[in-house]
Amino acid sequence: MANEPSQDDYVPALRYRWLTPFYDAIVGTTTRERTFKYALISQANIRPKQRVLDLACGTGTLSVWIKSAHPLAEIVGIDGDPEILSFAANKAARAGVSIEFRTAMSYDLPYPDSSFDRVVSSLFFHHLTWDNKIKTAREVNRVLKPGGQFHVADWGKADNIVMRALFLFVQLLDGFKNTQDNVAGKLVDVFEQAELTDVKTHRTISTMFGTMVLYSAARPE
Ligand SMILES: C[S@@+](CC[C@H](N)C(=O)[O-])C[C@H]1O[C@@H](n2cnc3c(N)ncnc32)[C@H](O)[C@@H]1O
Repeated sequence: MANEPSQDDYVPALRYRWLTPFYDAIVGTTTRERTFKYALISQANIRPKQRVLDLACGTGTLSVWIKSAHPLAEIVGIDGDPEILSFAANKAARAGVSIEFRTAMSYDLPYPDSSFDRVVSSLFFHHLTWDNKIKTAREVNRVLKPGGQFHVADWGKADNIVMRALFLFVQLLDGFKNTQDNVAGKLVDVFEQAELTDVKTHRTISTMFGTMVLYSAARPE
């Protein structure tokens, strides 16, 4: 039994796979999804022909919105859950956009060094153990081109006591251990420990489940 992965090692989209069909409806109505995902897209400042990786893309909403906004960019979405990627592929087909979706783990990306101009990620880091957060950020650093940028939206330090209380619902669902680093404001430390540079916190957005924070970092030139 020695190397059995713990429940904290892989947390599906809403913790239980049977909830995946309800993911878009729940996230769409509770997280101000349009506001924070379009803010992330704008922050990422994507240019034509750039290669963009959506890390842990889930049902593919962010990937589809990026491709629709930047049709000349190349978008790749990875996720560790092949089932959720079938939702993403259907969504891209319905939107009439071409996106490559691939099953992969965030801390072992199947891409050579310097493959992407941008890596984006939303609602993801709170799913990872501390060690996997660091490993994942190191992988992002590796697959980014020198000077390439990493843009992240995820739960962060609560703006006030109400936001902190609401975040308890996320912690009850996704688990306290992995989400605690986020609400303690430690994602900045994760990115710095992975030797990403120019780490910035851009804005916070209040939602029904707590404070969403937008960050950026870059691979050194
Ligand atoms: C809350 S969902 C977020 C999905 C999407 N990014 C969004 O904004 O809606 C978290 C996703 O992370 C994926 N995931 C969890 N651990 C992973 C890992 N280590 N590598 C890749 N994907 C992972 C889950 O399968 C799930 O789709």
